[in-house]
Amino acid sequence: MLTQAFTTDTNSALITDVRLGLTKSGQKELPSKYLYDSVGSALFEVISVLPEYGLTRADERLLRRYSEDIVARLTPPTTVAELGSGSGKKTRWMLEALSKHQHVSYCPIEISRTALNMCERELGDIDSVSIVGFEREYLDGLLEVAARRQKREQLLVLFLGSTIGNFEHPADVKFLCQMRAILQSGDALLLGTDLMKPIHQLLDAYDDPLGVTAAFNLNLLARINRELDADFIIPQFEHVARFNQAVGSMEMHIRSLQKQTVAIPTADLSVTFLEGETIWTESSHKYSLGEISGIAASAGFRVDAQWIDEEWPFAENLLIAE
Ligand code: TRP
Repeated sequence: MLTQAFTTDTNSALITDVRLGLTKSGQKELPSKYLYDSVGSALFEVISVLPEYGLTRADERLLRRYSEDIVARLTPPTTVAELGSGSGKKTRWMLEALSKHQHVSYCPIEISRTALNMCERELGDIDSVSIVGFEREYLDGLLEVAARRQKREQLLVLFLGSTIGNFEHPADVKFLCQMRAILQSGDALLLGTDLMKPIHQLLDAYDDPLGVTAAFNLNLLARINRELDADFIIPQFEHVARFNQAVGSMEMHIRSLQKQTVAIPTADLSVTFLEGETIWTESSHKYSLGEISGIAASAGFRVDAQWIDEEWPFAENLLIAE
C-alpha cells in the first residue's frame, strides 16, 4: 500500500495568529487548532476515554452500529475525504463497510502531522483501502482531493466529532457553504453534531476532575513556550470551562491568576495580562435537531438521514449536496 504525504510548515502561521490573538483589544484569543500538537493530540486521546466526556464514544457507537446503513445510502464509487481525522479509530467502521463493495481511496486532511501518522498506523491494515494523507487546513486539503477525483466518482466528506460546533455561528454555516462550493451536487457529507444536554454534564465533560482537560487547554501556553521561546509560567494560569446560555455553547478559556507580563521573543511580542483576564481558546456549540437542518439548508445541503445516540445525545447527519 502506497502512503503519500503532503506536508507544510505551520510555525509562521502560529506566529501570526499568536500576534493577532494576544494583541486584540477586548477578549484575547488563540485559535483552537493549535491545541493539537503532539502533546495536545495525546492529551485529547485521553479526554476521549474519560467517563465525563461522552462525545467521542457516542460518535464511535453510532458509526460502529450504523456504518452499513450509512454506506447503503451512498452512490459508489465513492472517495472518502476526512476533515481532521484524529487517530482515525472511528473511521475504521466506515472504511470497512465501504470496502466490502469497492476499493476505497481514503484522504485524511489534518493540520497535525502526529495525528496523520497515528491515523495512518491505525487504518493502514485495511486491505482494499489506500491512504493518501494531506497535512493541510481543511478547505485547502479538500480542494486538492476534489481536484484529483475521477469523473463520476462521488465524494464522501467525513466531518466527525462535532468539530463543526467549534465554528461559532454563523461561521459554521459559512464553513459548510465553502465546503459545498468545492463539492458537486450528489456528493455526501457525514456531519457529527453534539446535541444539547444538561449543563452540569457539559461542565463535567469540559472540566474533568482529573484535570486532563485543563492540561490539554494549558498545553497551548506550553506549546508557545516550546515553539516561540515564550516565558509563560503555566501555574500562574488556569483552565476555565463555562456554558454560554445566550449562544448555546460551551466556552473554554485560559485565565491569568495574577497581573503579569509574558515575553514571546520569536513573535517579537510582550503581552500583559490583568488578574482574571482570559484567553478564549475554543467554543463548542450544542445543537438542536432543528438547528442542524437549518444550517444544512442554508449551505445547500439536504438532510438525507440522521442517526442519534440516546446515551450521550449526539447525531450523525448524512447531508447530500443539492
Ligand atoms: N473539539 C472538542 C470539543 O468541542 C475539543 C475539546 C474537548 C476541547 N475538550 C476541550 C477544546 C477543552 C478546548 C478545551 O468537544
